Amino acid sequence: MQTITLALAAFSAIANAALTYNITQATQPGEFQKYHCLTTDEWNKRLPACVVPCQIKANQQDGCAYDDFACHSVNYSVFSEIIEPCAFPPSLGGHGTCSLEDLGRVRPLVQDMGNWFNATLYTAYAGCPQELSILKTLGIVARERTVITH
Ligand SMILES: *[C@@H]1O[C@H](CO)[C@@H](O)[C@H](O)[C@H]1NC(C)=O
Ligand SMILES: *[C@@H]1O[C@H](CO)[C@@H](O)[C@H](O)[C@H]1NC(C)=O
Ligand SMILES: *[C@@H]1O[C@H](CO)[C@@H](O)[C@H](O)[C@H]1NC(C)=O
Repeated sequence: MQTITLALAAFSAIANAALTYNITQATQPGEFQKYHCLTTDEWNKRLPACVVPCQIKANQQDGCAYDDFACHSVNYSVFSEIIEPCAFPPSLGGHGTCSLEDLGRVRPLVQDMGNWFNATLYTAYAGCPQELSILKTLGIVARERTVITH
């Protein structure tokens, strides 16, 4: 039961969006290096194989530039609606092939990545080569509440 709860929490952070982040977590050493110029290809190397096609699909279809994780993180409600049914197995209402163990592995990775980009937006993308959706991201942020934890 606890595993199922953890697995579900992997993607469905907060449905009604508020820009949420834990500032203590985002300022841990090594976070900037982990996410500097992050692309979808690089991110996919860190994920279990069952999630990779779903990550690609969500990054293509959520309305953000493909390699812009600040936008993917801020627009998480749209992103999660694409990735969840794709990755979750039928026992969790999806049509994917991930096991609960896979989803349990993904959860802290996604949480930390989303937390970093919510907290810092484009800090890790300064001077990076990829196309970014900066105006879209800042537009979403401007319409949201911000919830900061420690
Ligand atoms: C915030 O992150 C720190 C460091 O990872 C952790 O110790 C703390 O429990 C987190 N706080 C909340 C409210 O999640
Ligand atoms: C996210 O992106 C979609 C598609 O571009 C857009 O309709 C939506 O308003 C955006 N914002 C949020 C907060 O999800
Ligand atoms: C990041 O913020 C979005 C709203 O902009 C929210 O839906 C998402 O859950 C947040 N991510 C984390 C890890 O708190």
